[in-house]
Amino acid sequence: MKLFTNISELRTVSDAGTIKDAALVEDGGVIVWVGPASEVPADYAAAEHIDCGNRAVLPGWVDSHTHMIFDGNRAEEFEARMAGSDYAAGGIAVTMEATRSAGAQRLERLLVERIQAGHAGGTTTFETKTGYGLNTESELEAAQVAAAHVEDVTFLGAHLVPPGADAEEYVTEVVGPMLEQVAPHVGWIDVFCERGAFNETQSRRVLEAGRAAGLRLRVHGNQLGDGPGVQLAVELGAASVDHVNYLTDADVSALAGSETVATMLPACDLSTRQPLVEARRLIDAGVTVAIASNLNPGTSYTSSMNYCVTTAVLQQYMSLDEAIEAATLGGAKALRRQAVAHDGDARGLDAQGRPAKGQLIVGAACDLHILDAVNAINLAYRPGMPVTYQTWKAGEKVFG
Ligand code: NIG
Repeated sequence: MKLFTNISELRTVSDAGTIKDAALVEDGGVIVWVGPASEVPADYAAAEHIDCGNRAVLPGWVDSHTHMIFDGNRAEEFEARMAGSDYAAGGIAVTMEATRSAGAQRLERLLVERIQAGHAGGTTTFETKTGYGLNTESELEAAQVAAAHVEDVTFLGAHLVPPGADAEEYVTEVVGPMLEQVAPHVGWIDVFCERGAFNETQSRRVLEAGRAAGLRLRVHGNQLGDGPGVQLAVELGAASVDHVNYLTDADVSALAGSETVATMLPACDLSTRQPLVEARRLIDAGVTVAIASNLNPGTSYTSSMNYCVTTAVLQQYMSLDEAIEAATLGGAKALRRQAVAHDGDARGLDAQGRPAKGQLIVGAACDLHILDAVNAINLAYRPGMPVTYQTWKAGEKVFG
């Protein structure tokens, strides 16, 4: 049991709001008490004391969109983009070659390094996709490597039609042998529904096949222009539609009336010179939003959620509270890991009865991001500074 004390402000991301001069008690990896330091029950006096040094504490970031299984980099493509070239989905094929030839051992080492880098930036929960193998053997390898280290793994065989392949034949492989092999290792299926990748009919085929195989749905949509991704995601009840740079009013209304989270990827938007998502338009319409890093070598070679949150505040006109919520509880909702009501005394558990993510509430995972600052506004006030002091996952320190 641990008693975290000397917390200048505890951002609970719950009805309890921000508690000044707070304390938090952990037992068995979950939170058992939160409140003002002056009210810690005497029963917890014997717990191991962790002095947070008058620092701000918030839930660990929930990074609900990454592509961490890859080898190689595309620095030249990025440099060309900075010189004026457009981003095109075809660059994925470059990473495909490097990923196919890496081997499971190297992919695993790279994944572990990426998880550690995420922890160093305050991230405690990760989703990762496959999607750079693009054949049954390599997609299976990616899924197995990912499943050994990441709880939420997404099958993204439908990331790009590999060079030289016929699109319809490739989709048939994705929804047939590839899905059959990969499904036991993943919980989600995704499709890049975009010009240059997969059209609406192909995307629907992929998502419906995934659902029939027991997987839950996510969609890459509306990244490079208007398109059917958002409407398809809402229609099929996807947990999240990600990118959402180009939205019609009908898209926004559909999202607002749904349980599909709109996941914004600001680091990607800056790296691809796409317009940043109109966060205010979404929030003001009542859409549930998330912020994620989209770590990948093509469009967002960063896992820094701090950077994403900073961008959301400075450039997307989100309040600090909104940005923190989007990067914690919003991400948890996009992964269906948020606390939901259960019968009886169960509190702080997700729909599957696991400790919930993204909120500092009793019963939830004790995933903490301790900032090296007295208040959380330093995330935006001191952009780019090393503001993460410590990261704790399920009550164990994983960074700092
Ligand atoms: O989320 N948009 C599709 N997939 C990735 C980019 C992949 C790549 O270019 O390597 C993304 O941005």
